[in-house]
Amino acid sequence: MSNPLPVLLDVDTGGDDALALLLAMASPALDVRGITCVAGNCALAQAVRNTLTLLDAIDAPPVPVAAGMDRPILGSGLPAPALHGGDGMGDLGLPAPRRKSVDDHAVEFLRRTLSETAEPITLICLAPLSNIAMLLRMYPGIREKIERLYVMGGTYASPGNTTPAGEFNVCYDPEAAAIVLQSGLPVTLYPLDPFMQVRFTKEEAMRFSSTASAGARIAGGIALHYCRFFGYSFSLIGDAGTVATVIDPEGATVERSSMLVELSGGATRGATVFDRRIVTDGFEREGNWTDVDVVTNVDADRYRRLMAGALGAPEALTDQA
Ligand code: RIB
Ligand code: CA
Repeated sequence: MSNPLPVLLDVDTGGDDALALLLAMASPALDVRGITCVAGNCALAQAVRNTLTLLDAIDAPPVPVAAGMDRPILGSGLPAPALHGGDGMGDLGLPAPRRKSVDDHAVEFLRRTLSETAEPITLICLAPLSNIAMLLRMYPGIREKIERLYVMGGTYASPGNTTPAGEFNVCYDPEAAAIVLQSGLPVTLYPLDPFMQVRFTKEEAMRFSSTASAGARIAGGIALHYCRFFGYSFSLIGDAGTVATVIDPEGATVERSSMLVELSGGATRGATVFDRRIVTDGFEREGNWTDVDVVTNVDADRYRRLMAGALGAPEALTDQA
């Protein structure tokens, strides 16, 4: 086994961010150096509380948690999506957290953590990119300590989930998304296209809920919350698919593509626009187009099994969702 990959996670916990944290904290492939929180799925304070609650519930090691931006760089953000429940994490009724967040603002925590490590660190960004954009703008030199950014956000060929053209994390703070995705740093984008592929069935979620593993029970509870909210017989693992791509890149199909974030426009503000044209001669494009690695497809069953194994409940899965 090669050395665990040092990572920092940026989250707006969020039921599916919680699934991602469960996977990251359970995986021997990752060395989680810290978790930063940002407003998005719920207010910042709630995202911090949910993150601390989750870590307590799985008796996680004392990984530092820092609170960051409580609003987008511009604009007023978006309403908290009802789909995550009243508390933003599936209303599981978990006990209030005992552990505390660190005093540093998330941007300062990221700067200090990245500055103090010898090796560059991988950032896993599962929320609006307000914290990461502020880090890059306030401390441009920090770029050399960032190995790669894995970002859940945007759409490749998929429709949006927040506007017809836009995905929530990008639409919540489009300027931040543009700063980060068009920074020229190594970016692997995990858009809604694969995000919508990886799911557990309601029956599997019920089996997770009755296992001995605290993480599996929490994941099962979150999945059943989403099943109830949508009235579906399945639930997405959401952000956790981004973490799976970091842990097991062989399960992802990745293409290099040129993109930009649309910042103006009414219907299209917050859209991630990919230049997939075959012929471009004579049709020059304007704007700050940037090449990123984009996950266009994943082996969903492989990632379901990775998640179930990490949760200590591989037996909960049936043949396929
Ligand atoms: O559009 C999906 C993304 O928005 C996920 O990260 C989810 O947690 C919400 O933040
Ligand atoms: Ca999220």
